[in-house]
Amino acid sequence: GKYRVISTKPMPGTRWIRLLTDQDCRVEICTLKNTILSVEDILALIGDRCDGVIGQLTEDWGEVLFSALSRAGGRAFSNMAVGYNNVDVEAANKYGVAVGNTPGVLTETTAELAASLSLAAARRIVEADEFMRAGLYDGWLPNLFVGNLLKGQTVGVIGAGRIGSAYARMMVEGFKMNLIYYDLYQATRLEKFVTAYGQFLKANGEQPVTWKRASSMDEVLQEADVISLHPILDKTTYHLINKERLSNMKKEAILINCSRGPVVDEVALVEHLKVNPMFRVGLDVFEDEPHMKPGLADMKNAVVVPHIASASKWTREGMATLAALNVLGKIKGYPVWSNPNNVEPFLNENSPPPA
Ligand code: GLV
Ligand code: GLV
Repeated sequence: GKYRVISTKPMPGTRWIRLLTDQDCRVEICTLKNTILSVEDILALIGDRCDGVIGQLTEDWGEVLFSALSRAGGRAFSNMAVGYNNVDVEAANKYGVAVGNTPGVLTETTAELAASLSLAAARRIVEADEFMRAGLYDGWLPNLFVGNLLKGQTVGVIGAGRIGSAYARMMVEGFKMNLIYYDLYQATRLEKFVTAYGQFLKANGEQPVTWKRASSMDEVLQEADVISLHPILDKTTYHLINKERLSNMKKEAILINCSRGPVVDEVALVEHLKVNPMFRVGLDVFEDEPHMKPGLADMKNAVVVPHIASASKWTREGMATLAALNVLGKIKGYPVWSNPNNVEPFLNENSPPPA
């Protein structure tokens, strides 16, 4: 291969490798056993000649790595994730490195996990599973693991972008929930969907669903029964959910986070879960991954999973493919990638229109 492309982790499938090797690239996949690579590990991988890197959200891509990549002749970095809070895009710009992410292919998968956590929390699935396995079930009882009925309740979405909108649609259509959302932008397609579905239900003699665009986030927190967080993580969304905001929610509300851990003040959340046993939470992400804040693991009213929202075979292979296409597109100077939502794969420069 004419170009040296590094992947800091093995990724699912082989399509992404073939795409690169078919186009003059030599692909090197890091085999270090530590799950989280340090900046030093990655510097050693880059070495003195590297054209592009596919990296992971656990890595700190800042000044040090981008200057090294640039010195090694690299011009492209693709984060195998839609979120890019681990990437200093300004530093990348400074060193002439284009940054890509992988939107689109993970929208539905991530929304499905948020829906799964919503149901798991509402119906206490994990607690009930533990109860069964512990051999504690000794007969049906009217009061055994009573949870919340979602139908007719209100789902609140904070951040109605691709993932937030897909989740909202699932909850509205699947469970006939009303929608309230907060976003800086109007989610026109989502509003139209809920309106049309409401009309359909009404025509069938059922209670129609409704939607509302909230004028503040607190309006969502006060009115919703299930609240799901879908913002990006930046300075403005750090600890968006804090002690005060938690206290604004209904005592029996369910909070779901499949975005980024630091969007929630996790210490305040643990405290809130302790004093409000009917409040439930479903978490895919944590403030200091891979750790949980003290006490969280003991809370029966919390469902916790290890950052697996995009973990379906189709999606992970798609993310790997898109990440490879991002790097390849930059190296070869054309956009061979395909992107279902027609979103710019490079965050910091305009790519030419798809061929
Ligand atoms: C996963 O967390 C992603 O941002 O893709
Ligand atoms: C419960 O199992 C019922 O039949 O109501």
